[in-house]
Amino acid sequence: MIRSFLRDDDLTPEEQARVLDLAAALKAEPYGAKPLAGPRTVATIYDKPTLRTQASFAAGIAELGGHPMLVDGTLAGIGRRESVADVARVLGRQASMIVWRTYAQDRLEEMAAYAGVPVVNALTDDFHPCQLLADLLTIREHKATDGQSLSGVRVAFLGDGACNMGNSWVLAGALAGMQVVIGAPEGYAPAEDTFERANEIGAATGGTASWTADPAEAVTGADVVVTDTWVSMGREDEADARLAVFSSYSLTEDLFARAEPDAIAMHCLPAYRGKEVDAAVIDGPRSVVWDEAENRRHAQKAILAFLLEESVGA
Ligand code: NVA
Repeated sequence: MIRSFLRDDDLTPEEQARVLDLAAALKAEPYGAKPLAGPRTVATIYDKPTLRTQASFAAGIAELGGHPMLVDGTLAGIGRRESVADVARVLGRQASMIVWRTYAQDRLEEMAAYAGVPVVNALTDDFHPCQLLADLLTIREHKATDGQSLSGVRVAFLGDGACNMGNSWVLAGALAGMQVVIGAPEGYAPAEDTFERANEIGAATGGTASWTADPAEAVTGADVVVTDTWVSMGREDEADARLAVFSSYSLTEDLFARAEPDAIAMHCLPAYRGKEVDAAVIDGPRSVVWDEAENRRHAQKAILAFLLEESVGA
């Protein structure tokens, strides 16, 4: 069976914890494990802009002993010049794994259905599960008293809850047993079925996910406050309307002061200072955004190694 990582809940709670343990171990010894030795090729494709994702996958794949092959999504014309299924069949014959950043989630699902090798979501319109693994690793480092348990940690996510980061927080937080509160305007909360899935997961892990339109209520008592751009890639034509809708959800110093005194601030980047976050917060002493950016590499190495190990015949 081939295992892919298309959305956060493709891992069980136990598997998520195992991947995070492995990420911490790989971080402690970055040049030790070589599960991609050969080198095995990992195809990486970016249909949307990227800095952290491209850099961290390329470096991480190399550290695992593999070869990162960059496939230019525009030149390949996936879904236009050739069907997603045909691209999947071709790349699956050249590479041991496929990492793809694209738009609709169903494109990624089609790739996974036809590739015959593990496929990893490097961000879609709906989910950003690799970022969440990096974020959870970062929270473990800063907040977990035993360095491992995320259970009961309270997270406020502010801004566009209906974007990939909001959805992924609801699912990944539930898997980790966290209490996630989305502070987003009406019409920008994660979809109802995402909350339903989180509740299902939370029944076993103790995790909860909820939504409020009141940013102060979301942040009050939080251990971790997360925000993200108000204008996700692909939504640029809605920029003016979004700036107006989200203006009261800015992570200012005043709003951050409602969180726990030792709360940390997170942002997956790129950040727009003065919009979704104040410079005083993101560049301040309780910001962990550079750890988050670094942890993309360690977390992604762990998920690649995990999927390879779990996939028979890849
Ligand atoms: N929600 C953002 C995340 C960027 C890493 C976007 O999709 O543009």
